Amino acid sequence: MNVITTIQALTAAIQAEKDQKKTIGLVPTMGYLHEGHLTLAEQARKENDLVVMSIFVNPTQFGPNEDFESYPRDLPRDVAMAESAGVDIIFAPTVEEMYPQDGGIRIHAGRQAEVLCGASRPGHFDGVLQVVAKLFHLTQPIRAYFGQKDAQQLAIISTMVRDYNFPLEICAVPIVREEDGLAKSSRNVYLSETERQEAPAIQKALQLARTHFLTHGDVAAALAEARAHITTATNGKIDYIELLTYPDLTPVTANTEQVLLAAAVYIGKTRLIDNCLIEMK
Ligand code: PAJ
Repeated sequence: MNVITTIQALTAAIQAEKDQKKTIGLVPTMGYLHEGHLTLAEQARKENDLVVMSIFVNPTQFGPNEDFESYPRDLPRDVAMAESAGVDIIFAPTVEEMYPQDGGIRIHAGRQAEVLCGASRPGHFDGVLQVVAKLFHLTQPIRAYFGQKDAQQLAIISTMVRDYNFPLEICAVPIVREEDGLAKSSRNVYLSETERQEAPAIQKALQLARTHFLTHGDVAAALAEARAHITTATNGKIDYIELLTYPDLTPVTANTEQVLLAAAVYIGKTRLIDNCLIEMK
């Protein structure tokens, strides 16, 4: 496996593969890999000749009071794990390499970023689109892999690809969970022992709301049940629990085909997100 840190070396490596007509699958990550990331890489391995994984904690998607500095990083560990999942090239640039100049031009996420995580993290999805667009240009994939764990991110990136004709397919990968139901996340390492025990309540609350919604069709009552479960089972603070159409992220109507039930909860100081998709037809 080839670990590349500069754009110049990456461009040369990609060109060499393209010259051999190889298909490229891209797996963008911020590192501190876990099985969720590896599942993306394994799917990419099955579907492409060459698998490129980016490992870059992107400063432009973190707010001023968020965890950019403390976000966990361990490149040697990530390299070993990525290799075992069949990754061919890791692209792990520095911040200076990715953002040597700032011409002030921004990609602005649209309506889908006004709700859920976009409402609590202003500018977050603009930063995600900025880095993802750069990674798409640099690695020229025919497929790029994203987890349903970040369902809103997946929806917004798909819109950018559609609206701006990026020549690639976005592939969605289901959420990978711990045995007790907690969605795997690099941020789970922040949790204390007690917090770790409380954290699976988020998925449980979503399941309760899902059942309630499918049985009674009452959005407000379903969300109230989820909120009540989180309040009784944890000391956490709910950022949001919402039920919206997917992928548009608008209020549910009688014609809605797919619904996203999504939550963000602070367990201690750690903000965890989880969701489930519900088919209505
Ligand atoms: P990161 O949080 O490292 O996640 C990288 C990819 O792994 C994302 O597509 C995310 O949805 C997926 N993922 C994370 N946990 C998962 C799980 N438990 N099951 C399935 N997939 C999971 O998301 C980002 O990085 C960044 O915003 C990025 C897209 C790399 C842009 O900086």
